[in-house]
Amino acid sequence: MHCTYEISPQIYWVGGNDRRLERFENMFPLPNGVSYNSYLILDEKTALIDTVDASISALYHENIAHVLNGRDLDYLVINHMEPDHCANIEEILRRYPNVKVIGNQKTFQFFAQFYTLDMSKNYLEVKDGDEISIGKHTLRFYYIPMVHWPEVMFTYESSQGILFSADAFGSFGAMSGNIFADEVEYDNRFWDETRRYYSNIVGRYGPQVQAAIKKVSNLPIHMICSLHGLIWRGDEIPAILEKYDLWSKYLPEKNGVLLAYASMYGNTENVMNALAVKLAQRGIKDMRMYDVSKTHPSYIISDIWKYSHMVLAAPTYNMQLYFLMDSLLHEMSILGVKNRKVSLIGNHTWSSAALKNMTEAIEGMKNMEIIGSPLDIRSSLRADREAELDSLADAITNSMVNE
Ligand code: FEO
Repeated sequence: MHCTYEISPQIYWVGGNDRRLERFENMFPLPNGVSYNSYLILDEKTALIDTVDASISALYHENIAHVLNGRDLDYLVINHMEPDHCANIEEILRRYPNVKVIGNQKTFQFFAQFYTLDMSKNYLEVKDGDEISIGKHTLRFYYIPMVHWPEVMFTYESSQGILFSADAFGSFGAMSGNIFADEVEYDNRFWDETRRYYSNIVGRYGPQVQAAIKKVSNLPIHMICSLHGLIWRGDEIPAILEKYDLWSKYLPEKNGVLLAYASMYGNTENVMNALAVKLAQRGIKDMRMYDVSKTHPSYIISDIWKYSHMVLAAPTYNMQLYFLMDSLLHEMSILGVKNRKVSLIGNHTWSSAALKNMTEAIEGMKNMEIIGSPLDIRSSLRADREAELDSLADAITNSMVNE
């Protein structure tokens, strides 16, 4: 049976949820599933905003047919040409052959790269700022390139002040009946998944997110409809805009410490535990500690976005940095992590490389400050080096107090 939701007069959510998919983009774990949102506007003309992933095609087409109730589909807006939103474009064309497909030059270029159906006679190419009236509703298109693909657009419906925001302002997590962010306790679980989505999917494109926010900053926005996750409306909108402003400036949300270690036999882990206890004894609260071999890096990246400080510890392996820590640092670099305070601990048994490699990687990122004297231990931490660990704990604590 169809499953739709009228989110505003004449505007319907016609998307769906997937709780079976193991990983988003085959990379990021989805313990709470994911939603694929699509919206259908009924007016003198009908307009569908984006489509959905192939996993929910059957329900999706049932939803559209139900809401259209025998009417034809006049417009399909493609805000984003990634397959999790485009897998149903060809089927839409088959079912509604007269539909005008709204996109930009890059949208249609990517369509032709991904799919084989020739829909060029259906193209309606729009430029940045163009408008299309579909009756009482007017759709205005804003290019927001690289949030997070080059063809991405916002579609702003001006009569009700609704921003259809492509991937921006979205989240991992399937919907549980409630469709608006103000209908759930948007607590740590939701914010953690919203941040994990942002930092890993969009994190690299902070300047482009800033440009996109600026572009719509003077518009009255009463609702933000992303392609994933809950819909933001009314008084809740400033909360997500403030987070995006902070995240896209690479500024920490919280004065706190993330500790991430790699450890083959528990010796490097032991140093981290000893340091964490010393930090706790100095009054540092709400620390997060991860084993990079155990926890998927997307969770660690999310907390790197959240906290002001991080401690990284890893052993040397094959005369290099332990691969999974190397990979985390590489990912941080690609995502453009900056403006953090970092402390480093290396471990080696006969030849030291980990500390040197971690130091070089951090120094290659912008505005990263090394706090305290890095420790390079030999195989395991001995009591005669406790003073160095105390000194490192003091340095971290002092730098937090002085924030
Ligand atoms: Fe949800 Fe960038 O696709």
